[in-house]
Amino acid sequence: MPDAPLTDLQMKQAAERFGTPLYAYSAAELDAALSRVQAAFGDARIWYAMKANPNLTLLRRMQSAGVGFECVSLGELARAVKVEADGDHLLVNGPAKSDEEYRLGGDLGATFIVDRLGEVALLPPASRVLVRVNPGLSVSTHDHLATGAAHSKFGVRPDQLPDVLAALRSGGHTLRGLHLHVGSAIRDAGDFAAAFARVAELHTLTGPLEVLDVGGGWGLGADLHGIAARAKEAAASFGAVLWVEPGRYLVAQAGVLLTRVMGHKQTGRDFTLLDAGMTELLRPMLYGAAHPVQALWEGEATTSDLAGPACESGDLLGHDVTLPAGAVRGDLLALLEAGAYGAAMSSTYLTRPRPAEVLWDGTQWVTMRRRETAEDIWAAEV
Ligand SMILES: Cc1ncc(COP(=O)(O)O)c(C=O)c1O
Repeated sequence: MPDAPLTDLQMKQAAERFGTPLYAYSAAELDAALSRVQAAFGDARIWYAMKANPNLTLLRRMQSAGVGFECVSLGELARAVKVEADGDHLLVNGPAKSDEEYRLGGDLGATFIVDRLGEVALLPPASRVLVRVNPGLSVSTHDHLATGAAHSKFGVRPDQLPDVLAALRSGGHTLRGLHLHVGSAIRDAGDFAAAFARVAELHTLTGPLEVLDVGGGWGLGADLHGIAARAKEAAASFGAVLWVEPGRYLVAQAGVLLTRVMGHKQTGRDFTLLDAGMTELLRPMLYGAAHPVQALWEGEATTSDLAGPACESGDLLGHDVTLPAGAVRGDLLALLEAGAYGAAMSSTYLTRPRPAEVLWDGTQWVTMRRRETAEDIWAAEV
């Protein structure tokens, strides 16, 4: 099992002070993840896919390390504006961009990632552009996380690329390079190698390019050095500099979701009931994701399903999880590797206020987001 990024004592103190459910992060682990990426990818340019966790405190930390942002919504662009990112540090991506996204991205001087031919006519004048390629490859991850397969909605097929390039030229836009992102939580370096090789073949259509952006998608524990070596080879076939867009890898291991045991019951299954569930951490329900857990009580090992408080049968955070027996109400459990797509995907379903987020900066806890209230949730209602 992976180590928690925070000590038991730190997690207990945070839960005591800020309440649960709580997202708690370690600044040291955030720094360590960025250093691992920099070590593997050398002078490649790093763009943080802020969808993984768009908290402003995290964005400011990334920004001070020189990392740019990949944005996929008007709200994410607004966050970039809020932290005063400039156009040279902004990518605007997404399969169905709104007029407002084109306008704001254009005003900011961001680089657009074009996802289909019809988009070229919608771009602001003289846009700088990457074209996203769909390499038509299946990868080893959950189907909802695969984005480069022939049936996925993303990108331009290689045979469609010449028309897109011609439209960009006649529209007066600047083609900076190609882009691909074949999926998320992929651990097999071979999947990346196959996708990069397929895109590298396209140099015969494009000629030399300024940039090859190979996206993110690296699962935790993936061979970053192996992936980087293949990515650099692909970039070299265009004479391009390499860009990468990690989300999960930069923030997942830094974060834990702290939750307290509410009780225990048996039906056909054995359930440990928690004060966190699908509203705080959707990934188990959405993708069948299995987050490692660390229990902060003692006992002999037993197995149990982890159930949240929602009136939904699917509101489970784990199946057949090994836990110490004898948990009592109030005992603390940490769901690990929860820093990416955890808080970001939390919802207010059932008028459950979203959790606070706190950061251990090495000497003290910093509040990154206060706990939401019911009033926050209905503030926009009349
Ligand atoms: C285009 C693009 N780039 C980067 C990412 C980040 O992926 P990950 O968090 O798996 O690294 C995503 C995730 O969906 C994406 O769609």
